[in-house]
Amino acid sequence: MAPRVIEQALGRLGKAAALDAVAKPLAKKIAALIPHGVVKDALSGTWLGHPLHPMLTDLPIGCWTNAMALDLLAGEQGRAGARFLVGMGVVTALPTAASGLADWSDTLGEERRLGFAHAAGNTVALSCYGLSWLARRKGDHRRGVALGLLGGAIATGSAYLGGHLAWRRGVNVDRHAWDHPSDKWTDVAPEDALAPGGPPIAVGVGHDQVLLVREGDGAVRALSDVCGHAGGPLHEGTIERGCVTCPWHGSVFRLDDGGVAHGPATGPQPVYEAELAAGRVSVRRH
Ligand code: FES
Repeated sequence: MAPRVIEQALGRLGKAAALDAVAKPLAKKIAALIPHGVVKDALSGTWLGHPLHPMLTDLPIGCWTNAMALDLLAGEQGRAGARFLVGMGVVTALPTAASGLADWSDTLGEERRLGFAHAAGNTVALSCYGLSWLARRKGDHRRGVALGLLGGAIATGSAYLGGHLAWRRGVNVDRHAWDHPSDKWTDVAPEDALAPGGPPIAVGVGHDQVLLVREGDGAVRALSDVCGHAGGPLHEGTIERGCVTCPWHGSVFRLDDGGVAHGPATGPQPVYEAELAAGRVSVRRH
């Protein structure tokens, strides 16, 4: 019964268009504050080959959970340790929040609303822990513990929303996670559909859509056309210096090996081998 009630509440939250009045301009502002390139790559986890935010959440949650254990079980002896852990949780929550905001600024619609609620909950939880640390520092241990417990309850609810965004809504899940590629060659286009240095085309191969482009030297490059970050159509992006830039959030992929030159994508784009024979182009997945 409980999950159904939660599911319905999350469904209503996702459809609460009134949240857009704040969430939309805020997401735009954050996107403008985090320029594409080194900063965005660092916060997205492009350098790591994995989204950074889910990893970083372990730090504040771990600190605050251990602080709660000391508060509840260690008595007076645990007070100094608990205060230290509450403070560490606050400090480590800052890069965690920055990475989450970088991810959130790329979302739209229901995901943006749910992410806004997730961020708002975490902001309140972080404030509670900040006040908890201050109260402990002033010697008001009871108040510090009460604020810590309140922060923990709010952070737990907010973590549920974060999990919902990833596991139910697929935010930041690689769009190729469930690919089952065949290694068979597929005839996809006439060779003259691809002019050297000309615009890319998209062709269907099984369940995938493939971007085909012929570089100036005549080499045919083939990548999945579905951007692994959030599904953007790469053939609508720009081709420049051996790379394709996704039209949705600006991830840049190398055409020769699908590697990520710039995020927010964190995983490489699937690559296809391309072959020219008898005036036709055939591809098969690497
Ligand atoms: S869909 Fe986000 S960068 Fe391509």
